[in-house]
Amino acid sequence: MRKKLCIGIVGCGAIGTSLAKIIVKDFAARARLAAIYDYDTQRSLALARRTTGNRRCVCSGLEGVIAASDLIIEAASASHSYGIASRCLSAGKNIIVMSIGGVVSRFHVLKRLAEKHNARLYIPSGAVCGIDALKAARIGRIRSVTLTTRKPPHSFRSVPYVAAKKIDLEAIRKDTVLFSGTAEQAMKYFPQNINVAGVLSLAGIGPRRTRVCIVASPRAKRNSHEIAVESTAGTIFTRTENVIHPDNPKTSYLAVLSAAGLIRQILEPARIGT
Ligand SMILES: NC(=O)c1ccc[n+]([C@@H]2O[C@H](COP(=O)([O-])OP(=O)(O)OC[C@H]3O[C@@H](n4cnc5c(N)ncnc54)[C@H](O)[C@@H]3O)[C@@H](O)[C@H]2O)c1
Repeated sequence: MRKKLCIGIVGCGAIGTSLAKIIVKDFAARARLAAIYDYDTQRSLALARRTTGNRRCVCSGLEGVIAASDLIIEAASASHSYGIASRCLSAGKNIIVMSIGGVVSRFHVLKRLAEKHNARLYIPSGAVCGIDALKAARIGRIRSVTLTTRKPPHSFRSVPYVAAKKIDLEAIRKDTVLFSGTAEQAMKYFPQNINVAGVLSLAGIGPRRTRVCIVASPRAKRNSHEIAVESTAGTIFTRTENVIHPDNPKTSYLAVLSAAGLIRQILEPARIGT
């Protein structure tokens, strides 16, 4: 019988918790939740209680997760994802990085580490569709990639860029462009958008050539992401309207399911899609 894949999770917040539950409930035949770690030990203990029911999987540091796991899921924060990924890859362990914004600018370094230590670095598609076609089109030539994100005005309330530009969100009555620029700038000014802009940049033409337009839309009931690609393979246009995660209004449900879909792909012998 095939050995079960031992999976470790770093960060037991909304994403880590959802993925832990899916691993235990849906992937038990092929995988085992072997290790969990959070800065906040109460969180890891609570997650262990709700999933494996066994506190032995709770680690006191990243080293413990690395030792116990074949595949590690980083679901911590953009300020730590690079450090976590580089330590896992250096130990020859495969990793799924959720906090994409923290690795975009040094992605090439992580790729080299993965190659050197015979490990795999995975980035899930997240809350957008079209990454499959973009990856395929990239084998040819891509002329442009544009992401247009629409959200209700109130969802930009805590964005420092909006405050600095003195944009009055309450006064917005029709679709209003808050920002238009490169993905690199968008990731800096709109941290809530960091993961979508990041994966699009990595799959396509990089953070300096990928364009991002952020729109406050009073009509929007859901956060949406449109991707437009001009390439030698044709024009690609996708639109994703996201439902928020039932347990966490900050997260798109699809982002969690996308990571779960990636884990399933890793576990299965056949692979569908690019
Ligand atoms: N790729 C995607 O599509 C996508 C979608 C949503 C969120 N994310 C990212 O995933 C990450 C987690 O999101 P969340 O909503 O679960 O956040 P959260 O705040 O609910 O949980 C993060 C948890 O990680 C812990 N943590 C932080 N730094 C740590 C470290 N260095 N070591 C151990 N534990 C640490 C915190 O204590 C917290 O419990 C964020 O960076 C977020 O941007 C990615």
